[in-house]
Amino acid sequence: MLDKVKDLHDEIDQYNISSPEQLEQFRMRFISRKGVITELFEQLKRVPQADRRAVGQELNGLKNLAQERFDRFSQVVDEQRSSASSTPPVDLTLPTIPNLTGTQHPLSLVRQRIIQIFERIGFNVADGPEIESDWYNFGALNFPDNHPARDMQDTFFVEKATSGETSSDMLLRTHTSNVQIRLMERQKPPIRSIMPGRVYRNETISARAHCMFHQVEGIYIDRNVGFKDLKDTLYHFVKEMFEPGTQIRFRPSYFPFTEPSAEIDISCQICGGKGCNICKHSGWVEIAGSGMVDPQVIANCGIDPEEYTGFAFGMGIERITQLKYVVNDLRLYTENDVRFLRQFEGL
Ligand code: DAH
Repeated sequence: MLDKVKDLHDEIDQYNISSPEQLEQFRMRFISRKGVITELFEQLKRVPQADRRAVGQELNGLKNLAQERFDRFSQVVDEQRSSASSTPPVDLTLPTIPNLTGTQHPLSLVRQRIIQIFERIGFNVADGPEIESDWYNFGALNFPDNHPARDMQDTFFVEKATSGETSSDMLLRTHTSNVQIRLMERQKPPIRSIMPGRVYRNETISARAHCMFHQVEGIYIDRNVGFKDLKDTLYHFVKEMFEPGTQIRFRPSYFPFTEPSAEIDISCQICGGKGCNICKHSGWVEIAGSGMVDPQVIANCGIDPEEYTGFAFGMGIERITQLKYVVNDLRLYTENDVRFLRQFEGL
């Protein structure tokens, strides 16, 4: 019996455990009620009385050793298990990675504001193509062929994909006035719409000019629409868009598609009318062209100009943005410099 105890003692001493399965094997063999040590305790009854005490002590020693090893191995296996499942240690004192959300582009902000102002007085928003035919961009708007009025706007003509030759018929629209024509062609009056969009002109890019910019066109066609309605509408727009106390003036002008025509100036938002670089020291800045839609243009779209009249206007979104947020270089709008864009955060 003592030999048996000694053998088991050696076996336990040599035991090494590196997995939960081995730990379980160890438990079954040495710790459990069906294990070898329990069995030896059973056999203790049969040991002669004289030796029983000494053998019992050895057996208890073996039992304690098994338990002590089992506890230690359990701990090792537990530690292995938890270090395998947990993620690497996290340093909670590190600064957080900033979560940068985008900001609205200033031109989008201003476009949205313009739409909001006109929607509240009954205008809806319409859209039209940027690649346009000569007819919609010029012809229907009363620009006669070869008329010098076409030189007011340097046009990008579009190459025909097949021949590579430049067509004089298809072009990048030079203004949003093409959408007026498309609207009047497909819709019976009353028409009361604004049309924001991109336009293109063959200009050298500089602080003051760009080959791509944005306009908002407006048109109102119905019975008995007069110049007073044009004035009321634009007064309202200026009052809503700009600082209180902004002055507005209508200056006679010329556009092939309106008669009479007027350009609209407002008192300079930068210097308050005192005179500065932006207003070229005049105290006034032009924000839009406008006029009563020429009866010929109305007729070109299949609407009877004897029955219907209307006004139209067109303004540059960059110009409105420049005045509202003092942006003095047109190139900033397309350079995507976040130092510029972040200044419009939260507006
Ligand atoms: N299309 C003109 C331009 O780009 C602006 C304009 C003037 C639009 C008068 C209009 C208008 O609708 O009535 O310069």
